[in-house]
Amino acid sequence: MPGWVIVVERKHQETKTVAATIRPGEVFAHRGDFDQGIRTLLPHYDELLTALSRCVPPTAQRILDLGCGTGNLSARIRQRLPQVQITAMDYSPEMLMQAQQKLPPAQTTFITADFGAWALDPQAFPPIAPVDACVSSLAIHHLSDAMKAQLFRQIFAHLRPGGCFWNADPVLAPHPWHATLYQRVRQEESAVAPIPARGTVVPCGYSHPDQLATLADQLDLLKAAGFEAVAAVWQWFGLAIFGGYVPE
Ligand SMILES: C[S@@+](CC[C@H](N)C(=O)[O-])C[C@H]1O[C@@H](n2cnc3c(N)ncnc32)[C@H](O)[C@@H]1O
Repeated sequence: MPGWVIVVERKHQETKTVAATIRPGEVFAHRGDFDQGIRTLLPHYDELLTALSRCVPPTAQRILDLGCGTGNLSARIRQRLPQVQITAMDYSPEMLMQAQQKLPPAQTTFITADFGAWALDPQAFPPIAPVDACVSSLAIHHLSDAMKAQLFRQIFAHLRPGGCFWNADPVLAPHPWHATLYQRVRQEESAVAPIPARGTVVPCGYSHPDQLATLADQLDLLKAAGFEAVAAVWQWFGLAIFGGYVPE
C-alpha cells in the first residue's frame, strides 16, 4: 500500500478530501468524483453498464461483482433483476463506501479484498457460494496477463454449471493501425465538460496502471480456463464486453 498523503482542496466553495496517490482503478483524486467523472471521461459508460447488465440471465439469483467500485454495475443489474443477491468485491474502502449507499444491505455482501489475492487463495477470504453470474467492469485490466488467467480460473471455479462470466474492459489494439483509430475516436469524443482531477496512480496489491491485453488473447485465456461459447458481445473501439459460460 502506498503511503497515503491526504490533502484538502478547496474547489467551488466546497472542501474536498483528496488523496495525492490513488490505487489503480480509483481514477480520480477525490473518489467522490467517480460517478460524474467517469461519464465525462468515458462517454459510453452508461451504454456499457446497460449492455453488460443485459448479459446476466433473468433467472440469476446470485451474482459476484469484481471491482464493484461505487456500485454502478450492480445497481444497474438490480434495476432489471431486483431479486438478485450480490457479492461485491473491491479493495478500495473509499469506493465501497459509495457502493454501500446504493445497494440494499439485505441483498448485498461487501468484501474488501484484492481480487488478485482472492484468485490465488480464496480460502483466505469469506466463502462465496457458487454464483449464477460473475461480472466485472473496468477493473481486471489492471492485472498482469498471468494474474488475469489465474482470476479467470478462479471465477470458473466459483460459477455453478451453466453460470456465466462477463467482463467489460478496455482492450489492447490488435495492430498499431487500430491503435491510431482508437486514439483518433477518443480525441474526437473528448469531453466538453471538465474532467475532475486525476490522482497519481500507484501500484497496489496485484493491480498496476493499465495492463491491457488484446481481446483475442483474453478470449484464449477464458477458453484455457474452461469457459465455452467465448466471444465478445459488444465493442466500441477499444472497449469490449466479452465472456462465456461454464458447461453443464
Ligand atoms: C474504474 S473502477 C470501475 C468500478 C465499477 N466496476 C464501474 O464500472 O463503475 C475500477 C474499480 O476496480 C477496483 N480494483 C482495481 N484493481 C482491483 C483489485 N486488484 N482488487 C479489487 N478491486 C480492484 C478499483 O478500486 C475500482 O473501484
